[in-house]
Amino acid sequence: MKATAKANANIALTKYWGKRDKKLMLPQNGSTSMTLSGLYTVTTVEFDKKYEKDAFVLDGTELGEERAEYKKVKKHLDLIREKAGISEKARVESKNNFPTAAGLASSASGFAALSAAGAEAAGLKLSSQELSALARMGSGSATRSVLGGFVEWKPGEKEDGSDSVAEEIAPKEHWPEFRMITTIVSTTEKKVKSRAGMAQTIETCPYYRDWLATVNEDIENVKKGIKEKNFALVGQTAEYNCLKMHATMITTKPAMIYWMPTTIAIIHGILAWREEGLESYFTIDAGPQVKVICLEKDVPSLEKRLQATEGVQKTVVCKPGEGVKLIEEHLF
Ligand code: PMV
Repeated sequence: MKATAKANANIALTKYWGKRDKKLMLPQNGSTSMTLSGLYTVTTVEFDKKYEKDAFVLDGTELGEERAEYKKVKKHLDLIREKAGISEKARVESKNNFPTAAGLASSASGFAALSAAGAEAAGLKLSSQELSALARMGSGSATRSVLGGFVEWKPGEKEDGSDSVAEEIAPKEHWPEFRMITTIVSTTEKKVKSRAGMAQTIETCPYYRDWLATVNEDIENVKKGIKEKNFALVGQTAEYNCLKMHATMITTKPAMIYWMPTTIAIIHGILAWREEGLESYFTIDAGPQVKVICLEKDVPSLEKRLQATEGVQKTVVCKPGEGVKLIEEHLF
């Protein structure tokens, strides 16, 4: 009853911000993303009678029961146990190849990997849609990391949430020149996690209804842009949608301003370089990192400019990546 899975992070091209059902983790709006090769989580899960309690080791450190991450993992294991009709406790070891909780979608790859490894170890045979619904229960954005390439998370209409699942827009082979340069400007954990932040926005942001009223049009444009490989349409829509989400964050009480001075410096850089004919677009999640959307041919000039921007610690170039998969090498 042991299995290991590897899941890539994903970055939303049009964002998910807000839940309509907190218990079932159903989103207010749909979203789209690209699964990234190169930023991943590997997770091994073993259910066994020899374990007296669930244990969770993240990047080499065992987390105590009082830790929020431990509680989330335990809750997810309970869900898997309930589905599989088993009662064995589990040992979970997980490794990220990038900093946790700094706006790099570690919860997306984390819960996609935990769901796939946990389901396999528990003997569940799930379709990729069922697996995406299970991943959703851990973290909304994890729904999308189950699939590779370009992905849409359908908000769904059913009350039980069974239709709030990931669907492929196009496989990674469809647009192999598409790139996202993840630019790390800070590795400090963010102050307000997405879960609390989005709930506050729904409660207090006067523009949230405008966000909801305009998000579907962005989704349609991104999907059209991907299908037709219209880079400007995808980039412009993603940038616009990101700014609209941040407008709701900034106008939430208390305000959530995730951007740091370096974040703004990169935004201005991208706008200026674009005027010069070097085409790229930015997208930013609930953190200070900037993900630069571009095409392969422009990566060298963009990386050079990004690395020369004051405050940039690191850049990671990501291609469209594959969905979650089971692997043979266990972490323990
Ligand atoms: O599901 P979470 O807690 O990872 O929330 C994700 C929220 C954003 O990253 C800001 C947007 C998104 O769609 O990924």
